[in-house]
Amino acid sequence: MTSPPLRVGVLASGRGSNLQSILDACARPDFPARVVVVISDRERAAALDRARAAGIEALWLNPKDFEDREAFDRALVSELEARAVGLVCQAGFMRILSLAYVRAFAGRALNIHPSLLPAFPGLHAQRQALAHGVKVSGATVHFVEEGVDSGPIVLQAAVPVEPDDTEDTLAARILVQEHRIYPEAIRLFAEDRLKIDGRRVTVTGEAQR
Ligand code: GAR
Repeated sequence: MTSPPLRVGVLASGRGSNLQSILDACARPDFPARVVVVISDRERAAALDRARAAGIEALWLNPKDFEDREAFDRALVSELEARAVGLVCQAGFMRILSLAYVRAFAGRALNIHPSLLPAFPGLHAQRQALAHGVKVSGATVHFVEEGVDSGPIVLQAAVPVEPDDTEDTLAARILVQEHRIYPEAIRLFAEDRLKIDGRRVTVTGEAQR
């Protein structure tokens, strides 16, 4: 007997291209996860339009409606829990999340970042990579813990940095890899194939369900 698909909530603040790659993967009949809600802190985020276009609930939580960051995060957690979400995927969600959220979804929240972490966390990762002169950069999917773009690493993909790269050309090359590894990480999580041991995440070989 096959298990029901994993219920995924996606958090996104912007254009939502990673969300789209997740929605596209979830549309495949053999993919073991489904997005049940997309939540944004920005009313006009294109990510919300992408959710609506896919027939998925799109929810805007206005930070101005909340006294402080903790109150916003408590509301976020309760919206996700109300929908029985088994995994939260941060996909360009540009808010620092407090302990209320991190604890509620410990081991059940993923983030994607456009660098080979721990290099270049935070904003403008591609700009940071160019400024530093690295020859290789890439994308990282990691479990969320306290701290910006930190947490045990699930998957990474490297891309070359070309001598004539601009922030935009490098970002585009990295994005291709983001769209590949985020759905892959979700699939591994849904198949219960990720084991966290301290900072290390092991991918087990066989689907265990
Ligand atoms: C992506 O490149 C993602 O890795 C990055 O924001 C972009 C969102 O694009 N996230 C971070 O920098 C997190 N620190 P998208 O809205 O098209 O998915």
